[in-house]
Amino acid sequence: MNTAFIRTTALLPIFALFFTACSSSSVSTNPANNNNATPQTSTVIPIGIAVAQTSNVALLGQEQVAGAKIAEKYFNDQGGINGTPIKLVFQDTAGDEAGTINAFQALINKDKVVGIVGPTLSQQAFSANPIAERAKIPVLGPSNTAKGIPEIGDYIARVSAPVSVVAPNSIKAALKLNPNIKKVAVFFAQNDAFSKSETEIFQQTVKEQNLELVTVQKFQTSDTDFQSQATNAINLKPDLVIISGLAADGGNLVRQLRELGYKGLIVGGNGLNTSNIFPVCKALCDGVLIAQAYSPEHPGEINTAFRQAYVDQFKKEPPQFSAQAFAAVQVYVEALKSLDQKSKVNKLELPSLRTELNKQLLNGKYNTPLGEIGFTPVGEVVQKDFYVAQIKMEPDGSKGKFTFLK
Ligand code: ALA
Repeated sequence: MNTAFIRTTALLPIFALFFTACSSSSVSTNPANNNNATPQTSTVIPIGIAVAQTSNVALLGQEQVAGAKIAEKYFNDQGGINGTPIKLVFQDTAGDEAGTINAFQALINKDKVVGIVGPTLSQQAFSANPIAERAKIPVLGPSNTAKGIPEIGDYIARVSAPVSVVAPNSIKAALKLNPNIKKVAVFFAQNDAFSKSETEIFQQTVKEQNLELVTVQKFQTSDTDFQSQATNAINLKPDLVIISGLAADGGNLVRQLRELGYKGLIVGGNGLNTSNIFPVCKALCDGVLIAQAYSPEHPGEINTAFRQAYVDQFKKEPPQFSAQAFAAVQVYVEALKSLDQKSKVNKLELPSLRTELNKQLLNGKYNTPLGEIGFTPVGEVVQKDFYVAQIKMEPDGSKGKFTFLK
């Protein structure tokens, strides 16, 4: 008992990490987060958000920022953690691994957050998550869908269902729309961990469905010119093209396939699952099929509130990346509330709080906008409902939307 007491008094007490909102400039590098000048006297519980706010990956990351901010307001309006508000601390990862490592280090050591939501890409997670694991701080992946993410460590979990669960749905939907599909061309970004993982599942599903894989074409997420790969594939007369890449490259590839005359169905993977591809492929985005881990129509109170808040702010239906970011913040809030009822979180030292929070969150069930979710012991999300949507564009390409297939 004495030894434990001596050891813990050497650590910074958690109440030193609960800071007032009026000093929030010391915990956020993003001025956009400090625009609430109203001084508050209450303490807050800092949760880190490490997603891509800049670079091409921000096409996905900005939807995550939106979802997380809606969650922050929603849960604070409901009383936060038994009366103590949460405060999201944003650190921009940008699009690469180095930026993600910096963001994680700032959140862990400077901002002293209780847990992290992030990063945007699996490619970034494989580099940065081991740092959080060593520091014993929980990480909830809001969009990392590659195989092997929760297995990075005990402190790593995700709310984003893996490629193995999500990706096959879109191929099955394509076959329903066109049962005559026989020849399939697959494209994937070879410099991206998620794209490599997703294409394995797509290729396996193609074989399981007894379809003929006529070609596998590789590209880089930084590519803008896909003429040679697209031409190679089109020459083999595929009835279905399947793309695993990210938003900018994926959108450009869709556009160039259509410009070169490809008329068949296109399945896009999770990296293309954003309306931010609409300005890239415009009218030529029309018809792309993308599997979804969220439907705006999901019944229930929490999704109704989330959907309404999103529609009020953005005048369109909420996308999957926003819903998943909301769900990740929700998991922290509800796990902190449960923990606080057992042992007051503002009395726990930060290392104990992070460890107890990690244990607590893995054991909970959460009724989120994604539906009810929970976790396996290793931190893999357990989720029931999945969907497939098809992009419908206005003929002039100015506007579009995701229509959910029945
Ligand atoms: N689902 C994509 C990834 O895991 C964004 O990288």
